[in-house]
Amino acid sequence: MEFKEVMKQRRAVNFFDSTQDVTETQLKQIIETAALAPSGFNLQPWNIIVLRDQEKKEILRKLAWDQPKITDAPVVLIVLGDREGFKKGNSGFEKDFAESVKAGIMKQEQYDWFINADQFSLRNVI
Ligand SMILES: Cc1cc2nc3c(=O)[nH]c(=O)nc-3n(C[C@H](O)[C@H](O)[C@H](O)COP(=O)(O)O)c2cc1C
Repeated sequence: MEFKEVMKQRRAVNFFDSTQDVTETQLKQIIETAALAPSGFNLQPWNIIVLRDQEKKEILRKLAWDQPKITDAPVVLIVLGDREGFKKGNSGFEKDFAESVKAGIMKQEQYDWFINADQFSLRNVI
């Protein structure tokens, strides 16, 4: 399907069938597909909390205007942007840099430059 068609046909889903399950395999596929989204320096500074527990979904529902779809959906994902994800010492940041060095994309001596490279990023507005 053409990308334009995908965009035209997609919808925000408001009703979920609570009798249907989302398997771990399906969930993994969904998250892996979503993680293909671009990010600065490919740092992918996000974390995902997976809620399947009904009591926890009830708590979230109360925090989200009591929207029934939160408890109806068999699984709810909370996607958290990591505002520290581009800072020295952040596990994601350090892992990304180490892997970039290993892959030959970056050199170890570029570390300080990389730490400061986000000066044009969102760090300055959040
Ligand atoms: C940041 C964001 C927050 C949203 N929050 C809710 C929400 O709390 N409840 C809801 O029913 N829809 C929510 N929506 C869905 C929007 O209402 C929906 O995307 C918009 O009405 C356009 O409809 P469509 O996505 O079907 O084209 C949210 C969308 C975005 C982008």
